[in-house]
Amino acid sequence: MKTALILNGPNLNLLGTREPAVYGSQTLADVKALCVQACASHNLALDFRQSNHEGELIDWIHEAGRAQAAGTLAGVVLNAGAYTHTSIALHDAIKGAGVTLIELHISNVHAREAFRHHSYISPAARAVMAGFGVQGYALAIAGLAGL
Ligand code: DQA
Repeated sequence: MKTALILNGPNLNLLGTREPAVYGSQTLADVKALCVQACASHNLALDFRQSNHEGELIDWIHEAGRAQAAGTLAGVVLNAGAYTHTSIALHDAIKGAGVTLIELHISNVHAREAFRHHSYISPAARAVMAGFGVQGYALAIAGLAGL
């Protein structure tokens, strides 16, 4: 059984209380539970992580590249939070690791402030999804399973 690695970036530990009108009222623990279900129905094991630190996310993407090359990882679903809009280092990490990665956003970033319209992740991602709320995580796992 291959693993799906779900990576959450800065401030996503605050889900549930953080701007609920934008991100909803479900917590990161709720999102993890939803991912457990989605992975089970697609015959994937789940590895679910969150970090507020760019370098830690980069290290995890490198680790994912090695795991995918070894045949144990199906790919990554990454919600990079605000690093999406700032991090050339994450862009380079995804390309350098050669990992299959789906970029995910809970909100529709294109319907929000202009500074959220550009993503450094998108050109390095296999697919991009935004605006489905936390249900997007289950949809992204289904997409990863189907690749
Ligand atoms: C987000 C959108 C980003 O613009 C924001 O900085 C986040 C969350 C989302 O899931 O909608 O932290 O990635």
